[in-house]
Order: sequence, then C-alpha cells, then structure tokens
Amino acid sequence: MGTKGRSIVGMDVKRVLELLNKAFADEWLAYYQYWLGAKVVSGPMKDAVIAELMEHAADELRHAEMVSGRIIQLGGTPLTSPKEWYEWTNCGYDAPEDPYVEKIIEQNIKGEQCAIEVYHSIIEEVGMKDLVTYNIAVQILEDEVEHEEDLQGLQEDLEAMLSRRK
Ligand SMILES: [Fe+2]
Ligand SMILES: [Fe+2]
Repeated sequence: MGTKGRSIVGMDVKRVLELLNKAFADEWLAYYQYWLGAKVVSGPMKDAVIAELMEHAADELRHAEMVSGRIIQLGGTPLTSPKEWYEWTNCGYDAPEDPYVEKIIEQNIKGEQCAIEVYHSIIEEVGMKDLVTYNIAVQILEDEVEHEEDLQGLQEDLEAMLSRRK
C-alpha cells in the first residue's frame, strides 16, 4: 500500500473499498454468467452470440483484475471466497437455465444495465475525492455501455431474422 497515494483519498477509504469489493463480486459473477452462457447457448445465430459472449467474459475478468488492483492499492483485500460474491453482489447472478439464445441475451442485457447503474453511481459518489478509482470506474463504465449496445444489436438482428420467417 502506498501511503501517500492512500492519503490523498478525500473520503472514507473503507467506503471506497466497500464499493470496490461489491463491484468485484459483480464482475466475477458476470464473468461466469457469460462464460457458461457461451457454453450452453443454443438457437439461431449461435456462433455470433458465442463469440460475443466470450469476448464479454474476457472483459469482465479484466474488470475484476482492474478492481482488485485498486482494492490492494488502497490496503484492502479482494473478497477471498466465492461464497462472498453472493453476499456482496449488486447485480446478482442469472443462471442460464434456459439456453435459448433469446433468453441468454435478455439475461445478460439485464446484467449490463445493472453494471451501468453500479459504475455510474460509483463515479457519482467517489467523484474528485478519489481520482484513481474514478478513472477505473469510467473505463469500466465505457465497456459496460458497449456491452449493452452489442447485446441489444444482437437482439435486434435476431428479432429481424425471426420476424422475416413468419
Ligand atoms: Fe464488467
Ligand atoms: Fe459487461
């Protein structure tokens, strides 16, 4: 932990760590939801959907790394047990029990919309008081906004294709 780096945080570091660990739980659950979704998904446009889901999974894992790096910098400890992901998560976990492509896309859009809200609220709460966390949250928010757009694009393509068939 860098003492000067920590001392310039203009708010309760414990609160920043709480926000970060909650986001950390979300990222792991999002990673697993995408990763498993890519394995089980079935239905039309499956290959395009798998490619997108795998790309998003890799991004969520990268986000978990970014967030854990900041937690450690601030002298905290990233959640040490997966069972804590469930206790800390903001966005929860939607098990891909129905592997139909439309359902998987819908679940992940819901997850992205929650992630967008979470990072937006972190940015608002932390603001100028912790610029390093702010910057990480902005970078991740950009990705989550892109993820939502990618998935809604797939959803539209799928709907267009299915409606032509009727
Ligand atoms: Fe993420
Ligand atoms: Fe995402």
